[in-house]
Amino acid sequence: MQDKTSTISHADVESAYARWAPIYDLVFTATMKPGRRAGAAAINALATTREIQLLDVGVGTGLELPMFSPHVKITGIDLSEPMLNVARKRVLREGLGNVLSLQAMDAMALTFADESFDAVVAPYVLTVVPDARRTLDEMARVVKKGGEIVLVNHIGAERGMMAKLEAWLGQRAAALGWRPEFPWAIIGDWLAQRPDIVLAERRKLPPLDLFTLIRLKRL
Ligand SMILES: C[S@@+](CC[C@H](N)C(=O)[O-])C[C@H]1O[C@@H](n2cnc3c(N)ncnc32)[C@H](O)[C@@H]1O
Repeated sequence: MQDKTSTISHADVESAYARWAPIYDLVFTATMKPGRRAGAAAINALATTREIQLLDVGVGTGLELPMFSPHVKITGIDLSEPMLNVARKRVLREGLGNVLSLQAMDAMALTFADESFDAVVAPYVLTVVPDARRTLDEMARVVKKGGEIVLVNHIGAERGMMAKLEAWLGQRAAALGWRPEFPWAIIGDWLAQRPDIVLAERRKLPPLDLFTLIRLKRL
């Protein structure tokens, strides 16, 4: 199932990430590290005085997993088994005892009960799923009242050369496995319909302000 603006299907995601899995860490560790660190810092700030239960949506190869404090107890999900297999090896290799489970699951149809987690994190995922609004609905459903949803994303340029480049790349979204032209309005319009969720922070991140940290709070 896809939203009206997406050109990515589940099959595209599965085939793109089966191709990316063996080389993902080589290509995407450095550039996206500041975003993962910022996302993890926002989550760790919720766990300074207590343990929290975190859902990591689209955990991929688990590059962000070592960045969470031991007080953060993590359940990770992803659609791609080849990506999850890399993450499972990382957990064993690095002895990440706070990772409780890594499961194959669709972010658009989570099997967890309502209000199961203190926080949800999704670094670099919303531009990848076929339906971002439905994914946001699911994250909001499983987070407890008072909890946070922390997103890291590339938000598409609205005008200029960058917007043109993103529109051109957007025609190749299915092969790439993500949407370079993702507009803020997808999140903004969703928020406008959700009086129970507020925007707590929206901050540009390095490198070159390419990515944005977004913190949403469930009232
Ligand atoms: C760009 S990667 C980000 C991985 C990781 N969070 C990181 O920071 O490197 C996006 C991940 O989202 C996963 N994904 C895409 N659509 C999904 C869906 N509907 N349900 C669960 N995971 C999905 C992909 O398989 C991929 O592992």
